[in-house]
Amino acid sequence: MIYDMAPMEGITTYIYRTTFAKYYGGITHYYTPFLASMNLSSRERNDVLPEHNTGITVIPQILSNKPDEFLAISKTLKDYGYDMVNLNLGCPSGTVVSKHRGSGFLAVPDELDLFLSEIFEKCPLKISIKTRLGIQDEAEWETILKIYEKYPLAELIIHTRLQKDFYKLPARPHLFQAAHRLGIPLCYNGDIDSADALCQVTHTDTSIDRVMLGRGLIADPELIEVFQGNAPRDKERLRQFLATLCERYISEMGGGDRNTLYKMKELWVYMGAHFPDGERYVKKIKKASRLSEYESALNTLFSTCEMK
Ligand SMILES: Cc1cc2nc3c(=O)[nH]c(=O)nc-3n(C[C@H](O)[C@H](O)[C@H](O)COP(=O)(O)O)c2cc1C
Repeated sequence: MIYDMAPMEGITTYIYRTTFAKYYGGITHYYTPFLASMNLSSRERNDVLPEHNTGITVIPQILSNKPDEFLAISKTLKDYGYDMVNLNLGCPSGTVVSKHRGSGFLAVPDELDLFLSEIFEKCPLKISIKTRLGIQDEAEWETILKIYEKYPLAELIIHTRLQKDFYKLPARPHLFQAAHRLGIPLCYNGDIDSADALCQVTHTDTSIDRVMLGRGLIADPELIEVFQGNAPRDKERLRQFLATLCERYISEMGGGDRNTLYKMKELWVYMGAHFPDGERYVKKIKKASRLSEYESALNTLFSTCEMK
């Protein structure tokens, strides 16, 4: 099984990815959160700079519906030494969708087809796609697959939800199989957050050999070890991982304590669930308004509570 790290805006930054690789690993491809500026903002540039991503295999992701923009970003990425780029056709957020970007591009299949025909003709890099199944209705999936079938996709990553499902409504794994006829590598994404969840997915389709992990992996960085039947529940390693992340955010991101605190608190939206006895300390972590408060709540959590 190949395990890839999902792109998560604001979370799976280069700092997170490389620190994760140092303490946990097990990931074959790390996807960047989407890049959306023709000339790359300084945050985006920092995220893809090769010297910020040493020792890991990174696939940058682009969110665009304009061929010129997609090609310009791809050219920069090629100059950085990348050989593959991923197109985001999954983002469900209202502001993105209303501009027919992300999963919103799936609402205008003819325009999507034209866009793909141009980028596949001119892009100097291999292109993979991360897609949802459609906007409103499962029947849209067939139309979308007919378009993908026309192009030499390097890989299709399928988040088995419609746009209208956002992140919470149940995934629709039964629709994954239809994509096999494309004859290209397929990767399953959506709600794989436990060994049971992985079993259910591979039971639905026994040929699945690549999965992309998002929220489940952020919640439990030992998740891949759990899949492999070896979950040490190593609190000290988690403590070190979080301490290194925090130090690196302070020294490499800029913006002072506030930005770092924001980044660390965002992780606890997901990680809290693995400390069932630690609810009150996790609450304190989320409420901290200074790094010192965060550190103190974290110390109490780690010294008094066990990980699930
Ligand atoms: C906070 C957040 C940020 C995300 N950012 C991106 C992104 O930049 N690009 C993308 O393709 N998907 C993004 N996603 C979607 C995830 O990559 C993934 O498809 C989704 O969370 C389902 O997988 P999971 O159930 O394993 O989390 C984001 C999801 C969340 C919750």
